[in-house]
Amino acid sequence: MIQIENVSKEYQRRGRSVTALQPATLSVEQGEFVSIVGPSGSGKTTLLSMLGGMLAPTSGTVMVLGENLYQLDVSARSRFRNEKIGFVFQNFNLVPWLTALENVQLPLTIGRAEAAVQRNRALELLERFGLADRADHKPSELSAGQQQRVALARTLISTPRLILADEPTGNLDPDSRAMVMETLRECQKQFDQTVILVTHDSSIAESAERKLRITEGVLTEEQPRLNVASA
Ligand SMILES: Nc1ncnc2c1ncn2[C@@H]1O[C@H](COP(=O)(O)OP(=O)(O)O)[C@@H](O)[C@H]1O
Ligand SMILES: [Mg+2]
Repeated sequence: MIQIENVSKEYQRRGRSVTALQPATLSVEQGEFVSIVGPSGSGKTTLLSMLGGMLAPTSGTVMVLGENLYQLDVSARSRFRNEKIGFVFQNFNLVPWLTALENVQLPLTIGRAEAAVQRNRALELLERFGLADRADHKPSELSAGQQQRVALARTLISTPRLILADEPTGNLDPDSRAMVMETLRECQKQFDQTVILVTHDSSIAESAERKLRITEGVLTEEQPRLNVASA
């Protein structure tokens, strides 16, 4: 579902160039759950942004679901992103002036689904996340955990094939953290969604089937441990 080949990124800042990612090659199958760890500033968000069609690489190709993302024009790429890719961020990225319900409906509004259908889907998801009675609240009236649940509902409403999560549990209490992780697991198990998760939490990272690490812009994969019991 994802093939990247020799993808690198250099940022230009005040005439100086910063190498955020050294040429990286990686493929990920549909339905895999992949964690990415690494120190702050090592290039994790840069990689995720390039996978998500939000940041053009300096070199290399990014293929997602058979599309060469940066060969698409801007509007085709944003349509593709809307339909196929869901994002979950550390800071939730909810629209502050919209209610919880309106935030969840946002991806559908863009896709022009029918109004009543949209509303029901959004309410269903809010209910599933225990937020039925918060539908009319603005993000500022919600706790961090509740905001992240709204953000998850917004991500899941369009059933994206690929979920990119950038430290989604970084600002959360333990209960909300567990809920976010359970939800991402369900996405993978129930709907075969591919999940790529950047995290600082080593126990979360360890629970992934595939573990990637980025150190100073160099992407490496940890080999799965040998299962001695079944050997
Ligand atoms: N828009 C930008 N312009 C210039 N440099 C950037 C930009 N975004 C990130 N960087 C630099 O690229 C490197 C990797 O950043 P990032 O991908 O955000 O790391 P991480 O997510 O692992 O903390 C850092 O040195 C950072 O300062
Ligand atoms: Mg980051």
